Amino acid sequence: MKIVITGAAGFIGSNLCQKLLENPTVEIIGLDAFVGPTSKNVKYANVQALLDHPRFTLIESNMLDVNWEPLLKGSEYIYHLAGIPGVRASWGADFHQYVLYNITATQRLLEACKSIPLKKFIFASTSSVYGEKSGQISEKSIPKPLSPYGITKLTGEHLCHVYRESFNIPTVILRYFTVFGPKQRSDMAFYRFIKSMIKDKAITIYGDGTQTRDFTYIDDCVIATASVRDAKNVIGETINIGGKQRSSLLNVISILEELLGKKAKKAFINEAIGEPKHTWADISKAEKLLNYQPLTDLKTGLKNEIDYIKKH
Ligand SMILES: NC(=O)c1ccc[n+]([C@@H]2O[C@H](COP(=O)([O-])OP(=O)(O)OC[C@H]3O[C@@H](n4cnc5c(N)ncnc54)[C@H](O)[C@@H]3O)[C@@H](O)[C@H]2O)c1
Repeated sequence: MKIVITGAAGFIGSNLCQKLLENPTVEIIGLDAFVGPTSKNVKYANVQALLDHPRFTLIESNMLDVNWEPLLKGSEYIYHLAGIPGVRASWGADFHQYVLYNITATQRLLEACKSIPLKKFIFASTSSVYGEKSGQISEKSIPKPLSPYGITKLTGEHLCHVYRESFNIPTVILRYFTVFGPKQRSDMAFYRFIKSMIKDKAITIYGDGTQTRDFTYIDDCVIATASVRDAKNVIGETINIGGKQRSSLLNVISILEELLGKKAKKAFINEAIGEPKHTWADISKAEKLLNYQPLTDLKTGLKNEIDYIKKH
């Protein structure tokens, strides 16, 4: 079974490849351009173990330049995870990159899929499409992104819908809620906090730290994502993938203090523009359609992330 994964060298993509390869019938073509907020070296480390795998092939190329026809030939499933993530950097001069990599690249891939008999096209979207909401957010909630990043991802979702409606491309949209754990991107809060605390440096906190997030451990995220392949009645659906535990940033920092056995030096700065105050996923649809149940709590997941960072 041939599966194409875009963004295969990224945080979620590399973990997803490892998970999918547990099935001995799976063969993966991973595509990645080594762009975005994480350094190339980190991305090479992400795929290091995969490169020796006999059923994994890495194609180092940009989705905007690739010759899709031979690459997609014979593939049954596509996981489209490539994109430029991150809210804060999406303001200003870098916006054109978000447009190119989150919108244009998605359209090029969907266009190339018109001529192949795909079983599923799974698109990685984000809780950032929702904007500021109160309480648990279900997929029925009307998206109102607060950032240019959220707008580009929501546009990617709309592209999936129109290509499904007009060309029968079997798209499924997953909305991830803040994913953490080993290989987390270096621009993300937990990675920055852990790295700074290990080096006894101050950690930078946007706002007062009382903002809450629904934090999803990477293993839960990839189990949910992998399960879409065999799930029934999911084509055309949009599904939230949230975690086992919500928490404020201040609570996360106190768990890190306990795990690292030291006090954090906190530097509070202005709230980040474009970030909601709270996120909280209603995952009842994922429970029903994917049999999804997040398993890893914050403390266990943070311990695993610390161990990974210390080791690397
Ligand atoms: N990490 C999270 O918490 C989170 C939350 C919500 C949604 N997402 C979405 O999940 C996906 C993966 O996120 P991540 O955290 O693993 O990010 P990441 O930056 O680690 O991975 C994305 C990968 O895509 C590749 N890429 C980008 N544009 C490309 C292009 N044009 N051609 C080929 N490769 C390209 C990058 O090189 C990178 O390796 C993204 O689409 C992101 O928007 C992530």
